[in-house]
Amino acid sequence: MKIGMIGAGYVGLVSGACFAEFGVDVVCVDKDVARIDSLNAGKCPIFEPGLEHLIASNVDAVRLRFTTDLVEAVNGADAVFIAVGTPSRRGDGHADLAHVFAAAKEIADVLDAYSVIVTKSTVPVGTGREVKRIIQETRPDADFDVASNPEFLREGSAIGDFMRPDRVVIGTETQRAMDVLSEVYRPLFLLETPIINTALETAELIKYAANSFLATKITFINEFASLCEKVGGDIQDVARGIGLDGRIGGKFLHAGPGFGGSCFPKDALALVKTARDANSPIKIVETVVAINDARKTAMADKVIEACDGSVDGKNIAILGLTFKPNTDDMRDSPSLAIIEALQTAGAAIWAYDPQGMVEAATLLKDVMFCEGPYQTMEGSDALVIVTEWNAFRALDLKRVKTLLAHPVLIDLRNIYNPREMELAGFKYHSVGRG
Ligand SMILES: NC(=O)c1ccc[n+]([C@@H]2O[C@H](COP(=O)([O-])OP(=O)(O)OC[C@H]3O[C@@H](n4cnc5c(N)ncnc54)[C@H](O)[C@@H]3O)[C@@H](O)[C@H]2O)c1
Repeated sequence: MKIGMIGAGYVGLVSGACFAEFGVDVVCVDKDVARIDSLNAGKCPIFEPGLEHLIASNVDAVRLRFTTDLVEAVNGADAVFIAVGTPSRRGDGHADLAHVFAAAKEIADVLDAYSVIVTKSTVPVGTGREVKRIIQETRPDADFDVASNPEFLREGSAIGDFMRPDRVVIGTETQRAMDVLSEVYRPLFLLETPIINTALETAELIKYAANSFLATKITFINEFASLCEKVGGDIQDVARGIGLDGRIGGKFLHAGPGFGGSCFPKDALALVKTARDANSPIKIVETVVAINDARKTAMADKVIEACDGSVDGKNIAILGLTFKPNTDDMRDSPSLAIIEALQTAGAAIWAYDPQGMVEAATLLKDVMFCEGPYQTMEGSDALVIVTEWNAFRALDLKRVKTLLAHPVLIDLRNIYNPREMELAGFKYHSVGRG
């Protein structure tokens, strides 16, 4: 089998490398020349555990190639995957489909034989049908099918998620297309991974249903955490107490500063717009979006409160900038809103993140980026843990206390034990532990 992968970002690179590992011949194409140059020089342009090694071994095995030339990726391909970005459209929050439609047109221009054009990007319901229309209009003679194959991998554990997924969702219109994709995903069929074959629209909707459900679950526990803070109670125990119920499940019940990242915020917003346009608003997700936006600034207020009501003229140390550990992705990270709110309140920000600082420096102004956690907190009036990188889980508390000007620690991920922190002499604040 040969496939083309359009877009060599988080999804395209991981999917491309994993398909190659399955034994498929993969050509990844990206418009970004610097990105392709760095891949061809053996460097991985993103941080994802295990990815650099997986790419290198499949490049060595001549199953994986990178190019800026779409023709190389499309010619002779049994399937062409579109894995380009679908960010929020400025102003209205709809998914911006410009890259998807441009890719569809470019693929149509060079199609040379039957191929399945698969949308892997997260796209609103109806997009697959529009991709089909664009290809037909561009090349009335083209022999092709369209398919929807949304991706569920999580950054930070993307390779494992792709190789051993809970399920694979494939929306198709013809058996011929399904046969091709069954072959591409053959190792997963052999592992008896549930493969859900649906209509195009259903596959597109499943992705939004999954992400908005998970965003809702996080928001639910965050709301409960706020209640715990008011009435007493420990959100960690509440989460465990409900999570052990098999109908609820323990995952995505970690209270924190609100969800961020490249998917949940934009996908929840896009679903809200799709549902409103269809005159069938999904009010629960509308509420989730509003609560989550407010939560990020509420976290800045929490820091201000912990600093006796003002951070004006104070030094605040921030540990963790990415939206979660084990990624360098800064898109919609809660740290951005929290830092901006603290700066507006007059704080000077010192920050450290194991992987996110290069990107963070392009998004944040006037932040002093440091070389490690201890340098960040030297002389600070408070220390805030925003992302739960392992490197922050076992800090030398004696050293932390000596370095801080005031022993105030705000742990927005509940990675420390309140009692131990108190015994160590900290004014410790966490989430949902009233
Ligand atoms: N990042 C995730 O964790 C994740 C998980 C599941 C689904 N998704 C979805 O997958 C899609 C891609 O996300 P991502 O995080 O990989 O995005 P990304 O921004 O990291 O990568 C997209 C890449 O596509 C390239 N590109 C754009 N138009 C192109 C074109 N016409 N030809 C060639 N290359 C082109 C860009 O240069 C970029 O490198 C989005 O729809 C996203 O919602 C992302």
